[in-house]
Amino acid sequence: MTLPSLKWWQSGIIYQIYPRSFQDSGGDGVGDLKGVTGRLDYLASLGITAIWFSPVFTSPMKDFGYDVADYKNIDPLFGTLEDFGELVEQAHARGLKVMLDFVPNHSSDEHPWFVEARSSRDNPKRDWYMWRDPSTTGGVPNNWKSFFGGDAWTFDQQTGQYYLHQFVSGQPELNWANPEVRHEMADTLRFWMQRGVDGFRVDVFWLLAKDPEFRDEPRNPDWRPGQPEHNSLTHIYTQDLPVTHDYIREMRAALDEFDDRMMVGEIYLPIDKLLTYAGTPEAPECHLPFNFHLILTPWNAADVRRLVDEYDAAVTKSGSWPNWVLGNHDQHRFATRVGRAQYRVAQTLLLTLRGTPTVYYGDEIGMEDGHIPENRVVDPAALGQPEVAASAGRDPERTPMQWDTSPHAGFTSARAEPWLPVAENFTAVNVAAQEQDPRSDLNYFRALTRLRGGSAALTGGSYRSLETATGTPTLQEGTSLTGGGYQNVQAGSGVFGYVREHDAEKVLVLLNFGTEDAPLSLPELEGATLLLSSHGEADSSVLRGNEAQLWQLS
Ligand code: NOJ
Repeated sequence: MTLPSLKWWQSGIIYQIYPRSFQDSGGDGVGDLKGVTGRLDYLASLGITAIWFSPVFTSPMKDFGYDVADYKNIDPLFGTLEDFGELVEQAHARGLKVMLDFVPNHSSDEHPWFVEARSSRDNPKRDWYMWRDPSTTGGVPNNWKSFFGGDAWTFDQQTGQYYLHQFVSGQPELNWANPEVRHEMADTLRFWMQRGVDGFRVDVFWLLAKDPEFRDEPRNPDWRPGQPEHNSLTHIYTQDLPVTHDYIREMRAALDEFDDRMMVGEIYLPIDKLLTYAGTPEAPECHLPFNFHLILTPWNAADVRRLVDEYDAAVTKSGSWPNWVLGNHDQHRFATRVGRAQYRVAQTLLLTLRGTPTVYYGDEIGMEDGHIPENRVVDPAALGQPEVAASAGRDPERTPMQWDTSPHAGFTSARAEPWLPVAENFTAVNVAAQEQDPRSDLNYFRALTRLRGGSAALTGGSYRSLETATGTPTLQEGTSLTGGGYQNVQAGSGVFGYVREHDAEKVLVLLNFGTEDAPLSLPELEGATLLLSSHGEADSSVLRGNEAQLWQLS
């Protein structure tokens, strides 16, 4: 049951597919759209609401699709526009929404716009990109750096100017100050919405605007050699510029021409700045400014609780809608980050917090980072920067979906190796095996989504964390939880508990971030019903180490 007033992107769950790695139907070792269509029944069985596809547009794949050469077509590697239409139709028939990844900040250097733009200084498309003369000493125009290492500028021999790119040089930055660019981009959104697309994830939303004077960025005093060079600057002239909000409102207006569409924006900023991207009720911007803070916060009960309390209060104050993320194609797998023992605690947190969760493909079966031998590394972020390569770049979290124990884990029938190696644990961690096991991670995930979907308290109810006796968020061994009437919970080290509530329905979530058992003596639990435990059975007297429990309170 959902709350009647909630939109699908509020009550639902978003599931991210990295199309290269989900299912290959063509036998070339790279996933494709038909592969996904063939797996729609599986996707529907997960209890998710929407599928977000990382870019599937025409691309030379220098950044694996985040370098778009035609915003209104599908890359042949993934299929055709017809395949996409079929996928949308089949997804909709199963009640699943479809979201695309919109990459408006930069195109590919092979996009016809850029080919034109670089052909001469007076080409009408020249100003669609960002060109500068060399500095007075003949070098780069300023000190801006690329996220992928080195300068953010590449010299164009033919026209004698540099162009800006904050990622690889094959990703020239579009000039959002130019109204023609904005007009074209809004038109691109319309193109896909007319084809049934329900929403968009928008790439690097907070980078769209740049300082019109192209001033040098100040040095970051906290940067240390050995850290990525991009971090050596404080990005006051390339990130979070006020005019970005005008651009986003324009995009929002295009979305609002259609019924019930949405966008979620990629934004890595502190909470107060992040929430400004939702706009205001009078001037709305992004429906969901992606909240990556769970990924960035140390994994312990005190820090996670502090984050959730702070974010929930800020969202409530701003009148926007919360959302949570534990993993994506740019971050190491959460099962690897928090460790196997904590995997279900993390999954439970993601799916029971107030706000829309986004799930990364394979996280429902507990996929971990794959091992990428040095000669198989393909991520441009790692290839361009030894300090990123040292942590293996982003390839480990992009390995093929683990379907079964057949060669290449059922991802591809290719004789040759898939584009990235399958993680070594696929014979143990795969969908087929977990389908057979009622106690598997996959079925635990389904139990969580089922509970969430059937509970007004979990989909839309309020959030209140349990207080400690001292009022500090740190729950030490033996301290008791007070507040909200939940006295006498003898919380072990690292316990985080909260109540989700709507009308008469109350759900208590207890998460043990530690390995020690935490004895519980909670009067309210006496009449309570256990909804789920990560450990299978549970009783109301103890929260075991690494255990997650959900209780329906009477
Ligand atoms: C953010 C995307 O998530 C990442 O994968 C990509 O490399 C950059 N933007 C550039 O588009």
